[in-house]
Formats: sequence, C-alpha cells, structure tokens
Amino acid sequence: MDFELWDNVTYVEPFVGGGAMLFFMLQRFNNIKHVVINDINHNLTEAYKNVKDHAEGLVYKLKQIEKEYSAIQESELQKKYYLEIRRCFNEDDLTSIERTSLLIFLNRTCFNGLYRENSSGKFNVPFGRYVNPTICNEAVIYADSELLNRYDVSILNVDFLETANVLNEGMCFFYFDPPFRPLSATSSFNSYVKEEFGDERQKELAEFCRHLSEKDNVKWMLSNADCSAKNPEDLFFETIYDGFNIHRVYASRSVNADATKRGKLTELLITNY
Ligand SMILES: C[S@@+](CC[C@H](N)C(=O)[O-])C[C@H]1O[C@@H](n2cnc3c(N)ncnc32)[C@H](O)[C@@H]1O
Repeated sequence: MDFELWDNVTYVEPFVGGGAMLFFMLQRFNNIKHVVINDINHNLTEAYKNVKDHAEGLVYKLKQIEKEYSAIQESELQKKYYLEIRRCFNEDDLTSIERTSLLIFLNRTCFNGLYRENSSGKFNVPFGRYVNPTICNEAVIYADSELLNRYDVSILNVDFLETANVLNEGMCFFYFDPPFRPLSATSSFNSYVKEEFGDERQKELAEFCRHLSEKDNVKWMLSNADCSAKNPEDLFFETIYDGFNIHRVYASRSVNADATKRGKLTELLITNY
C-alpha cells in the first residue's frame, strides 16, 4: 500500500487511547485531510477536547497542581495527595478542565501510567512512586493542541461500531488498536474501562473489518496479541481474520505488572491490503 500517494485521506482511529499512532500519522503525512478519533472512555475523549480547545486553561491548572505536588517531599505524603486527587476525580463535581487536569496528574503519578476502572467505572490504579514526574509538559500540550487544530480532528465518544458512520467517498484509513485479547486466562491486562472486551467483541470487530473491506476506498490495519505464539492451538485470530494478511511484529509493551514480562513479544498486525 502506498499511503503517501493517496489524496485527501480520512484517518480514523476507533480505539485511540493515548494516541501514539495518531500523533505519528499527523506529524508524518500531509495528505491526511480529515481525522476522526474515538474512544469509549469519556474522561479520555474529554481530555483530547480540552487539549484541542482549551490548552492554556489546562496548562494553568496543571501548573497549580504541579506546584502543590512538588512542594511535598515525603513519599507517604505524596501518596496521600495522590489518593485525595483520585478521590476528587472519582467523586467530586468538577469542571471539564479540572477533570482533565486531574486525569493527567493521575496518569503521570499512578502505577505504570495505566488507566483502569473498577466495575462501577471508578479509576482505581494505585500510586506509582516516581521521583519528580513531569506533571505539566507544557510544550507537548501546546504541540498536540496545534496538531489537533491543524487537522480539525473530530473527537467521538461512542462504541467502535458507530465509527462506520464517518465513511465518505474519499480514501479512508482505519487503524484499530483494541483492548488486546489476553494471552492466557491469568496473564495480560486488557480491561481499561468498566465495559468488557471479550471474545464476542473481538469477533464483532473482525466482522466490522470484514464489512469495511467490501468498500474499495477503505484500508485498515489492526493490532492484537499473538495468542498462537503462546499456545499453538489457539488459532482464534487466524480464524476470525481468515483471508486477511496476518503479520507478526516485535513490540515492547510496558503495561505489565511484572517487569520481567515487559520485554519483546510478537504481536499481530492484520491488514486488508
Ligand atoms: C489498547 S488501548 C489503545 C492504545 C492506543 N493505541 C495508544 O497509543 O495508547 C484500547 C482503547 O480502546 C478503548 N475501548 C475499549 N472498548 C472500546 C469500545 N467498545 N469502543 C471504543 N473504544 C473502546 C479503551 O478505552 C482504550 O483506550
């Protein structure tokens, strides 16, 4: 696929998360004309909107939090501050900017920078004990804001199935990075939000991809765990993506509670091209 040669591309990321691929694409390709990002996590999509539309207010609020936090020397008191911010984030009636600034603080100071909710939808990640974490990365917030505005990125907060509505006549590229299917019953973390993403949802996603493939103007790429590398009898993805191209790539993942398991693993990269 020669992406660079396409004109007026619509780039769609239905599971945008932290947006690693999004920001790579926006910096790398100037043939992208429309961008649609989506995530089921409302706190996250609200954060993208605030970075896009209210970067200054966000930086102001984050600097206040940074000042308060950096004045605390003792780690037990830092943990107490963290837990109080987590409680506010989960329970208090906050403005949108306040909620996003608390989310960023929690992301910078929580265990492994991960986002996880309990069954009632409350953020429940423990304190991370980092030394001098950057709470307010002003340059990154302004640079991201500029990119989100330059492409006038549309930010949706719906189930991935609804992102089919964005299709238009031009070339469309979808990148899917859904919650990974666990490699074994006890292993990987894949539950970011209170909504589960089990095998039935993985199959719905494969059907969705199959449906997109019926259109000549849509190309897609999808990442997921390489389950058959761990258990050769587990051909779940080979079965549901039968007929598409399945590549194996090495990827370093840092979201694993066990540091010894954060090394290189193969992952699947599935494409319809
Ligand atoms: C593997 S993460 C994406 C990581 C991202 N590529 C990055 O660079 O950080 C999966 C994301 O899918 C979102 N998600 C889970 N279920 C969803 C659904 N049904 N529809 C849309 N997004 C969903 C989660 O909130 C999470 O942000």
